[in-house]
Amino acid sequence: MSEYRIERHPILSPPPAQTLEIYWQGRKLSAREGETIASALFAHGIRIFSYHPKDHAPQGIFCANGQCSQCLVLAGGLPVKACMELVRPGMRLEPVDGLPELPRASGPTAMRAIDEMGVPVLIIGGGPAGLSAAIELGRRGIETILIDDKHRLGGKLVLQTHRFFGSYDLVFAGTRGVDIATKLEKEVRTLSSVRIWLQSTALGVYSDGKVGVLVEGKRYVLVKPQALLVAAGAREKNLAFQGNSLPGVYGAGAFQTLVNRDLVRSAEKLFIVGGGNVGLIAGYHALQAGIAVVGLVEALPECSGYKVHRDKLCRFGVPIYTSHTILSANGRKSVESVTIARVDERFRPVPGTERSFACDTILIAIGLDPVSEFYDKASEFGMKVFAAGDAEEIAEASAAIFSGKIKGLEIVRALAEGGEEIKPEWYATAAILKSKPGTTEPESYPAEESGVFPVLHCTQEIPCDPCTTVCKQGLIQIDPSDIRRLPRFKPREGEKGCTGCERCVTICPGLAVTVVDYRQDKEYPTVTVPYEFLKDSIETGDVVTVLDTEGRELGDVEVVGVRAVKANDRTILVKLKAPKAYAKKIAGIRVQEDDVTKPMARYIERVKDDTIVCRCERVTAADVRALIRQGARDINEIKAVTRACMGSCGAKTCTPLLHRLFREEGVAEKEIVDQTKRPLFMEVSLGVFAGCEDERERHDGGI
Ligand code: FES
Ligand code: FES
Repeated sequence: MSEYRIERHPILSPPPAQTLEIYWQGRKLSAREGETIASALFAHGIRIFSYHPKDHAPQGIFCANGQCSQCLVLAGGLPVKACMELVRPGMRLEPVDGLPELPRASGPTAMRAIDEMGVPVLIIGGGPAGLSAAIELGRRGIETILIDDKHRLGGKLVLQTHRFFGSYDLVFAGTRGVDIATKLEKEVRTLSSVRIWLQSTALGVYSDGKVGVLVEGKRYVLVKPQALLVAAGAREKNLAFQGNSLPGVYGAGAFQTLVNRDLVRSAEKLFIVGGGNVGLIAGYHALQAGIAVVGLVEALPECSGYKVHRDKLCRFGVPIYTSHTILSANGRKSVESVTIARVDERFRPVPGTERSFACDTILIAIGLDPVSEFYDKASEFGMKVFAAGDAEEIAEASAAIFSGKIKGLEIVRALAEGGEEIKPEWYATAAILKSKPGTTEPESYPAEESGVFPVLHCTQEIPCDPCTTVCKQGLIQIDPSDIRRLPRFKPREGEKGCTGCERCVTICPGLAVTVVDYRQDKEYPTVTVPYEFLKDSIETGDVVTVLDTEGRELGDVEVVGVRAVKANDRTILVKLKAPKAYAKKIAGIRVQEDDVTKPMARYIERVKDDTIVCRCERVTAADVRALIRQGARDINEIKAVTRACMGSCGAKTCTPLLHRLFREEGVAEKEIVDQTKRPLFMEVSLGVFAGCEDERERHDGGI
């Protein structure tokens, strides 16, 4: 169909879909029914979607999540967000070039009355938290409307191919995110009191306690809930550096959307900025999709994400540059390379340490900001409002599942003014699931060199327990009161020991358990390692390079078996024959060769000072800094002078960057006056509020 589709993936299967035809600048392209315009264009290698009216700079996507408005294209002459709008047969698409003229209306405007309705509970967001809350409410027969702006439920879960951490019993730990989404969706759809509105966006919260919802992109409805739950997730933080708005620089979540949800090969060579869980996982997902990962920079001396995620990348052959920062994205029309440098203890780049790497994509994964504006406005207007998941506090999706469940029950109590008790220990569990990584122990190995046993390459305290639940002999244990403690293998004298069933290897979300078996050969034991890449990329007889947890090469060993069984849920077990000198240290197999990670012969200096803080209005950091240095402290003033924060994203993308600039200029947070926040949070055509019929239906028959 196109060379940028992922036809084969170790975890995901492309769903069957009808193909249809769309047109981009008059050129006929094939697309898959049910995909977004952005994915269809990326599938044909098209990454430039528009040219900015201010300086004609090319623009692509940034969030792929409806938040930043970078991806506007013209569909039938009307601007639409390419990352949210689905393709339709015969759709005629054009890049937005400057300020386009809107097509003339084809006749008098028909208007309908705005529907209004009341409902006990409205939930904004059908991700892990919103779904869990809806399930609790639905089980108790409470009428609930669950809205989500995407075309399927699950939120970020549908982007996750890896198994989840957390508690096996409480939040599906050990199951892949995409499969958790399916389970939750299935359950919520059985509950008759829960109504689901997909492709429906909450636009704003008003002082009369009503929430404006654009249902399926067409019908504007005012919903007055008795209780509102905001489970709208998070948006990715942007970063200011030279060339940061070039097409090819986008968020890690956007990348996962294109690659894992829509199976589009959006990059060939990727560089990642940020060593939190999001960046580390995105690197793993790229490798699974056959995309080269050139490297990852993290400004801190250590990655802040889970060590098991970091270790995976290291041993698959991805260099991680800690205490480094990105200096520039380089390229004329889109990313061609990245330049990085080491930073000193005050995070200033150290001259002389610059290096450039060829790449076509740079992922920004420096953290997330809660989508909290609906909660803040509803609180201001005195509504009964709750927040759950990332909209309340940024944490893992497993924590969001649990916090959604608790919030669902809190709402039940709030509506009934009493009702069932929420177990106090659940709040303690919620806090554990949300917790950041704890201490890391130095890795040690069992002393035995006989029999068979697992080696747990898991040395950092994180909330996770699946390995303890699958051992039939109960030999892997963890402190049941706190699953952040490290799991231990504890054979009991005189009792049946490890049988080498390898279930612990299969289920570990961090791919951090191996089984070493000395029973056949004491000098060359067999080591079983987990492998989540294409099955035909490894076979018996191959010689592979094995590495320890830190990514240090141990040697080249022979593959003596490959076990891919259904019960392992797409995790392949690879058996290696390794010398006993390092068999227990083997944590994984290199999958990426060194060549792609080599720096270019000379570093590239971007001379253009195009560090953009407001993408929508293309306002540079230099413009804003100049005003701050002149004494500006009120963002309303900066907005009036530069137009920063005045763009179509509603300042959601640039406000955090402005605060960062203030910090860099030594201005305390309390001195900053934030811009006035209006009740409306999403851009929408004015006709929607007047009940005008969908313009798309009136122009060119909807295409
Ligand atoms: S890329 Fe479409 S809104 Fe951000
Ligand atoms: S980035 Fe959208 S208004 Fe500034």
